Amino acid sequence: MKLLVLNGVNLNMLGKRDSTHYGTLTLAELNKEIKNYAKSKGIKTVFRQSNCEGRLVYYLQKCKADGVILNAGAYTHYSYALRDCIADMSVDVVEVHLSDVYNREEFRKTDVLHDVVKAVYYGEKKYSYFRAVDYFATKGE
Ligand code: DQA
Repeated sequence: MKLLVLNGVNLNMLGKRDSTHYGTLTLAELNKEIKNYAKSKGIKTVFRQSNCEGRLVYYLQKCKADGVILNAGAYTHYSYALRDCIADMSVDVVEVHLSDVYNREEFRKTDVLHDVVKAVYYGEKKYSYFRAVDYFATKGE
């Protein structure tokens, strides 16, 4: 099994963002940890990041992986373009957030993706991604 781990807007800045919410890992360090965790479950990973909504749609439309772990960043809260794209996908998309989006500013409680993805894991920093890997590792068991 191969997973696309797709990070959206501002996630390239991890390591410099508010560590209370996002932890201290850079995106490269986070990706390495996800890669190793997935490998321990026999799952391959490919990583992409973009700050551009259209580029994220492109990666999803061109996805050749068996599933997607998506942290869309702030696009989560208002991107109907990403929502429509995910709704048309034939592979499972699991949404993740490093921070606890339900215990922050009010606007973060709006998630326009939540009902077109298979699951949402949030508030556990890197472990939110690990839980998403677990979703695919145990799928079909
Ligand atoms: C985030 C939460 C979003 O609200 C925020 O805009 C981000 C990161 C997270 O991983 O916690 O950029 O998706």
